[in-house]
This record gives sequence, C-alpha cells and structure tokens, in this order.
Amino acid sequence: MAETQSLSYLCGLADKLEKSQNLSDDELHSVLLCDNPDFIHYLSEKARTVREKIYGKDVFIRGLIEFTNYCKNNCKYCGIRCGNKNAERYRLSEKEIISCCDTGYELGFRTFVLQGGEDTYFTDDRIVSIIRKIKSRYPDTAITLSIGEKDKESFRSFFEAGADRYLLRHETADKEHYNMLHPSDMSFEHRMQCLYDLREIGFQVGCGMMIGSPYQTTESLIKDLRFLQKFKPEMVGTGPFIPHRDTEFAAFPPGSAEMTVRLISIIRLILPDVLLPATTALGTIDPSGREKGLKAGANVVMPNLSPTAVRNKYSLYDNKICTGDESAECIRCITSRVSQTGYRVAVSRGDHIRYGNSVLTQ
Ligand code: 5AD
Ligand code: FES
Repeated sequence: MAETQSLSYLCGLADKLEKSQNLSDDELHSVLLCDNPDFIHYLSEKARTVREKIYGKDVFIRGLIEFTNYCKNNCKYCGIRCGNKNAERYRLSEKEIISCCDTGYELGFRTFVLQGGEDTYFTDDRIVSIIRKIKSRYPDTAITLSIGEKDKESFRSFFEAGADRYLLRHETADKEHYNMLHPSDMSFEHRMQCLYDLREIGFQVGCGMMIGSPYQTTESLIKDLRFLQKFKPEMVGTGPFIPHRDTEFAAFPPGSAEMTVRLISIIRLILPDVLLPATTALGTIDPSGREKGLKAGANVVMPNLSPTAVRNKYSLYDNKICTGDESAECIRCITSRVSQTGYRVAVSRGDHIRYGNSVLTQ
C-alpha cells in the first residue's frame, strides 16, 4: 500500500498534522508506516521548523539524578523490576542528592530530574524534605519528579513543597497492550488517573511511550497519538524499547531509532509547543540517535548527574550509554553534540511555553 501513495499525498498528511486537522486511522497508518525517504525528510523538516518557531535554537538540559533503583513494581520490560534478583540495589542519601545538585548547578543545570523506582523507603515526607532542601538552596531551579504512581494527596504535597513538573510515562494508551507489559497488580486506569490528577494539581505533566515494545502494533501507536492529542501533556518522553537480559522480554528485538525519530516529528507536529527529549535510550540504540532526534523536532536532553559509582546499577535496559562518565564529562559531550546540530544549550529552567520563565538566550 505504502508504495502506491504519492509523495504529494503523503506530504499533504504532514501538512494536515501540522494544522491540527484530524487524520483518519488509515492516514495515520500511512504516516507511521510509509518508507518513502523523501516523505520522512519532509516530516522531519516540518517538525524542525515548528520547533524553531516556538523554542528558537535553544536546547534545554535537565540534570538526571537516579536516586534509587529499588522498585516495588515488576514491569516486564524493566531491568530494575522487583523480581530481578540480579539487580544490585542502591539508594542515595539526601546529602548525596544535594551534592549532585551542587555539581549540576555549577555546570549550568537549572532543572533537576529526580528519578527513581517506586521505593517505599522514600515516603512522602522524605520526598518533600528533599524538594524543600533543593528549592531553598537553588530557588531559580525547577524540579521534575519521576517516581511513579502515587495518591493524589502525595502528588499535592510534592507540588506544595515546590516540585514543578512530573514525568509519568503512560507506556501505551492501548489497555490490552498495557496488560501485556505489566503484571496484573498494575492497572492502566490507575496510571491514567495519576496523569489527570497531576494535571489538576498544577504540574507540568509528562507522559510517553516506548517505541517498539513487545506486542506493540501500529494500532497501539495510533492510540498513543490520539491520547496525546486529547491529554495535551507539556512533556512527552519517548525512546526505543531496549531488551534487558534479566527480564522475560530479553529475547525481543529492540525498537528502531528511525521509528523513534519519526514519532518525535509526529509528536512535535501535533503538540507544537511540547517539551520533547532526545532520550538516552535513543542514544543507546544509535550512537547519533540524540542528534537525529534534535534535528527532527526534539528540544530537550537529559544528561546524567548521578554519582558515577551507581550509574551502571540504574539499568533499565542493556548497554545504556553514559554510565562511565563524570557529570562534567557528560555535559561537555552533550554540549558538543548539541552544537553539531546547529542548536545551543540554554542555561535556563526551560519551562513549557505556557508556564512562562522560559527565556530564550540570544
Ligand atoms: N527499554 C526502554 N525503556 C525502558 N524503560 C524501562 N525499561 C525500559 C526498556 N527496557 C522506560 C520506561 C519508563 C522509563 C523510566 O524508562 O518507559 O517509564
Ligand atoms: Fe554522557 Fe555523552 S552525554 S557521555
């Protein structure tokens, strides 16, 4: 079917996406599956133009602090799932987390992403205390939490303590697919509920999905796109699925960089002002994956600020990059990669455009 579609028809679909016109399922199928290189180039150029119209040449950086790899969940794709007895567990103390922020602030980071498994040691009070410490020390920074599903009251206490953003990937908007990726004690409805709670409380909210996860179909991706159109998140994290040796998905093939980059472009077109990272997983599957993502509509990168000693333990998937590098080395590397794409790293909080504070650098 793909070969019979003319380039002008396909480019017309990209134009429709940009104008927020609803595409039919068949049309979305074509955009997702067609392998005409001229079309893929057109799509990515269009996404790049839209991104530059809104965020200029700035790339926002987020300092990622992976502060615990304990997790009470057993997601089938994830290397730090509780069932993985080979995972060497660690958690950082509050002092160690603050020390990562000190290093990060010095290096120019104005957003810290606190990411961890669902670790019951980190009670709401402990999280609130960490948020307050960081905010009082560095009032001009933003804090993003990525610590999984919680009650609405917990989310509210984090927001009131000063957290600004929350990342919770929905993983897939297709309920049946969700149930194939997660054990039966996790629910699609609860995950979605969390996203709506976060939105209502006032967070800048991020969702997102893996590309090429086991059992994903084009129909599931279409559901993801429809969900993004409806929910309108401020951030979308998408990276390729990459198998981890200690999971039941160890033998599944990884998602492709090409498909991930294509999704980045599509997401940029349907949500023009979204904060869209070129993820570490994309850089893992393809050595120039992050650069390709940035050139196709992404505008965020998230270098690692975790202490080198624990980095390889935060192993969600195999062969993760940047596990041996000091934070200073990581930001140097990222800065040079970003400038090779014609963009520049911004020293700013890098808020979503609707939340102000996002000053473009000269
Ligand atoms: N491959 C790619 N991404 C993964 N994640 C977890 N496991 C994997 C994997 N094997 C992603 C999930 C999660 C985020 C923190 O990392 O989407 O939400
Ligand atoms: Fe970490 Fe390149 S971004 S070494």
